[in-house]
Amino acid sequence: LLIIIYLSIKYPIISWDWSKRNTNDLNFPRDFHWGTATAAHQVEGGHTNSNWSWWENQKNEKGKPRIDNGDKAGLATDHWNLYPRDIELMQELGVNAYRFSLSWSKINPEEGKFNQDAIQHYSDVIDRLLAKQITPNITLHHFEEPLWFMNKNGFEKEENIAYFQLFVKTVFEKYSDRVTYWTTFNEINVYTNLAFMSDIFPPGKKNSKIAGRVLKNILIAHTQAYKMMKSLSNGKKSQIGIVKDIFFFEPKNRWNLLDWLGALVANDNFNNSSLNFFETGKYHFGVPFQANENYFDKDAPNTIDFMGLNYYSHYATTFKFIEHEKMFSPVAGEEMTDMDYTVYPEGIYRAIKRMSRISKPIIITETGIADAKDNKRGLFIEREIFAISEAIKDGYDVRGYYYWSLIDNFEWSLGYDKKFGLYAVNLETQERKLKDGGKHYQAIVKRFLNTK
Ligand code: NOJ
Repeated sequence: LLIIIYLSIKYPIISWDWSKRNTNDLNFPRDFHWGTATAAHQVEGGHTNSNWSWWENQKNEKGKPRIDNGDKAGLATDHWNLYPRDIELMQELGVNAYRFSLSWSKINPEEGKFNQDAIQHYSDVIDRLLAKQITPNITLHHFEEPLWFMNKNGFEKEENIAYFQLFVKTVFEKYSDRVTYWTTFNEINVYTNLAFMSDIFPPGKKNSKIAGRVLKNILIAHTQAYKMMKSLSNGKKSQIGIVKDIFFFEPKNRWNLLDWLGALVANDNFNNSSLNFFETGKYHFGVPFQANENYFDKDAPNTIDFMGLNYYSHYATTFKFIEHEKMFSPVAGEEMTDMDYTVYPEGIYRAIKRMSRISKPIIITETGIADAKDNKRGLFIEREIFAISEAIKDGYDVRGYYYWSLIDNFEWSLGYDKKFGLYAVNLETQERKLKDGGKHYQAIVKRFLNTK
């Protein structure tokens, strides 16, 4: 009982009484990034040579397709061709920043070969954004990588980091005269957990030991890429970070010690593993009897100019030895989104607070809601933006907010059903339509960016 009381005090679930909060009382710095985000594989279309284009054609042990409804990214939202139109949507929203990823598999389709058309494509995207006063924020690895790289066991092997470095060097040299903001990896813990601890993402290894090693190698790849970029001619003026996803893990039942164990182990692996690395240089990833990976690099805290924070929700947790993905369920009593995520906007305040232990500026590189009916999105955005404003008032250094996503798109293993966009997309006609939730965001952005 004493342990439970101690844990409950140490790890409270913060929840706000929204009826007592004035969500119009907002305070944001003038140079704040008001943005939206996408990722190559989810919006561009035409990926044929990547870990995901391969995965979409695989079946699981039960003979079922890997992606819900057997969906494949396919032409997606044809952002590859329609990006000028999509940049107009950004202008309509009034945002001043856009986060997108480069497709490593399109740029570097075969080992040692770089596709000049693909390199030119992103150069055109960047120029068009800049012409419209929209700041580009580039992600170098957003879950997607070339198939040849995955087939060499990707980040399972430390020596393979050299391939990533070569890709990064190539694109950095090409774009860094015009692009200031870069992140190396997207959602490092989601990527390693879903691809290596479970089989939700490719290559689906279901092996905790491998997951611990991959995460370590990704952290090493980040530090190496950071140092390499900083040593190049535009490196000094660049702002380079990494995107860390924070979910909080609450014990499903606060009176159950096994649930507390699950919450603590999950929090340790998912959050502390990478956050502590950038705070102290110490990396630890442990799953009882399965994995125990340790590493130390005293320089790690110096390889971050800003931390990217992705925030979605929190989970109720219990402990499971195998089938780790079954440890998590939605927190009871909270409103649901169209995914396993409950609506918990105050959690973004908590996530900012946790991340601020790494004493670097924070950019909210993603946050959003799957809401096909679009009847929760507006309020969700309003509350999250209020929570971020409160964090800024309390002295946390938050520099930007990128809503996920500009347009409805391909939600990885969940396929096309999950609608995160500010704009709805008709996948047959490729028509885009601003949703009510999008109008809500537009109004907030106008309020802060028109006063310049
Ligand atoms: C985070 C990922 O970075 C993004 O690709 C995904 O679509 C959103 N979360 C929504 O789940």
